[in-house]
Amino acid sequence: MNKFKLAVFVSGNGSNLQALIDTSKSPDCPFKIELVFSNNPDAYGLLRASQNNIPTLTLDHKYNNDRQEFDSTLSKNLEQSNFDLIILAGFMRILGKEFIKRYENRVINLHPSLLPKYPGLNTHEKVLKNKDKFHGATVHLVDEGLDTGKIIGFSKFKVEKYDNYDSLLAKTHEIEHKLLPKICSLIATKKIILNKNNILINGK
Ligand code: GAR
Repeated sequence: MNKFKLAVFVSGNGSNLQALIDTSKSPDCPFKIELVFSNNPDAYGLLRASQNNIPTLTLDHKYNNDRQEFDSTLSKNLEQSNFDLIILAGFMRILGKEFIKRYENRVINLHPSLLPKYPGLNTHEKVLKNKDKFHGATVHLVDEGLDTGKIIGFSKFKVEKYDNYDSLLAKTHEIEHKLLPKICSLIATKKIILNKNNILINGK
């Protein structure tokens, strides 16, 4: 089987990358991870990739301060690999207009909130502050805005009275680790078709 190829971008721990790696090990998984990229040479996600013999690419944002320069060096480096879709899985750097245009409909992001609620940072704190009844995670197509692209899928849970930052973080991770591999599988098998005007859902 010709597997659908993912390039996964991470900036830190990479527990969602690990969920993708674990899913990809099943023989009937429709995707494989072709490359892991990080803007942070110390990202634990890079180690997770190496331990699983996945090629890695690093471009330290500290030495590539100019956004356009960072993006164009990254694009050039990506030309060396062959992938179908970029997954931002805990990638904490904004990609510029030109990069997004170049990979239009081919970049998706995992975000720890029920978008359109709480784009940006500190989502768990905001849920607690506003005493929200529900919290969750969303996977969306990346456009030029901050967490504004078309929503592909989400998963949610009830916020309990005893929840605090740590428990919300843990619960969010738990649902993300199921949501992201599931969406990648649906895209890989063309049950979800990405298009910036419409997310097309085919079949079940
Ligand atoms: C995840 O919760 C993801 O939703 C979030 O970073 C975490 C990464 O965890 N992403 C963002 O906040 C993007 N704005 P991980 O490194 O353990 O996968």
